[in-house]
Amino acid sequence: MDKLLNKQFSTIIGIMIVVAVIISFKNSSFHIPGNQEDYQPTQPIAFSHQLHAGEMEIACQYCHFGAEDSKHAGIPPANVCMNCHKFVNNTFNETRRADLENRKPVFSKEIKKIYASLGLDLDGIKVNDEIPTEWVKVHNVPDFVFFSHKPHITAGVDCAKCHGDVQTMTQVKQVEDLSMGWCLDCHRQEHDSIQSATGRTAYLQDCASCHY
Ligand code: HEC
Ligand code: HEC
Ligand code: HEC
Ligand code: HEC
Ligand code: HEC
Repeated sequence: MDKLLNKQFSTIIGIMIVVAVIISFKNSSFHIPGNQEDYQPTQPIAFSHQLHAGEMEIACQYCHFGAEDSKHAGIPPANVCMNCHKFVNNTFNETRRADLENRKPVFSKEIKKIYASLGLDLDGIKVNDEIPTEWVKVHNVPDFVFFSHKPHITAGVDCAKCHGDVQTMTQVKQVEDLSMGWCLDCHRQEHDSIQSATGRTAYLQDCASCHY
């Protein structure tokens, strides 16, 4: 009698596990920690995409030059910032205000940090070792998922499809949930790049394409 109960019990547990797995696959609202929609950490330098990519219209790939050719889009090193900040030491507003008041514009507290990270004093002379800025990573897929920017950029998928309207953000925020269901939703759709090759559709939904 006891044995029979035990057997029924383990069968029920077994079914429950299978159902749980199916549910988590179906809507994949189940999440690996560290992968959160709406995550918007404060960064060590108050860099604004709204100002640089929005108002000044600097192209995304001027700074994220890895996106087209590699797995990572990458965060630009400080010398990319220095292409401009060698000459621009504060906002236009502050510079204008200083002009009107007939004084030298003060160096922006945030832009000073770029100089410091390169070990430069405010005249651009090397006085210290470099201490790279530790930007906080916003988007994270777990280690057991393979994701690369390259095939997506090559296929013409816009940055905004996955990252939202970054050029309107003063502080970057994760707008998609980056769940498995989210990846698959897009992979199930028809893509210009895969219409000619029917095998690709199956490939894009194959577990092994995204899991090593
Ligand atoms: C198909 C969706 C998708 C597209 C399109 C996409 N990204 Fe990403 N991006 C991601 C995911 C997912 C991550 C997290 C990757 C990880 O954790 O390894 C990420 C990470 C990043 C990062 C963090 C650093 C890195 O490289 O891991 C930057 C910066 C970035 N993307 C910029 C861009 C830019 C700029 C574009 C357009 C040129 C772009 N992305 C297009 C999905 C996308
Ligand atoms: C193509 C030129 C260019 C590049 C590249 C550039 N900036 Fe800027 N940045 C500017 C200009 C111009 C301003 C002032 C804009 C204004 O006042 O409207 C500015 C303003 C800023 C400010 C605002 C300062 C304040 O006190 O509010 C910060 C911070 C900043 N940039 C950081 C960076 C960082 C970090 C990088 C590199 C990742 C970078 N910038 C790359 C041109 C650039
Ligand atoms: C002037 C350089 C510059 C330009 C232009 C720029 N970015 Fe960035 N981007 C940065 C820096 C620096 C960071 C790291 C700090 C932060 O998150 O704000 C960053 C972070 C990001 C992240 C978050 C990466 C992560 O940690 O997950 C995304 C996504 C991103 N950028 C997308 C874009 C897109 C899309 C565009 C064009 C609309 C763009 N960027 C234009 C410099 C730039
Ligand atoms: C907005 C649409 C979209 C989203 C979201 C998306 N992808 Fe893709 N993915 C594509 C397209 C388009 C291709 C290229 C199809 C082709 O040309 O064969 C692709 C290709 C791939 C490939 C195949 C690379 C190769 O070997 O050629 C992998 C792996 C992949 N994506 C992983 C992911 C992962 C992981 C996620 C979620 C974190 C994701 N994708 C989210 C549209 C998307
Ligand atoms: C297009 C890319 C892609 C494909 C194809 C894919 N996965 Fe995933 N998978 C992911 C991503 C991204 C995550 C991480 C989700 C998160 O962090 O919330 C994930 C997570 C998982 C998890 C962890 C639990 C969960 O639901 O989050 C399991 C188990 C899993 N996948 C199994 C599979 C199996 C089995 C297949 C084939 C039927 C498959 N995956 C196909 C992208 C993919």
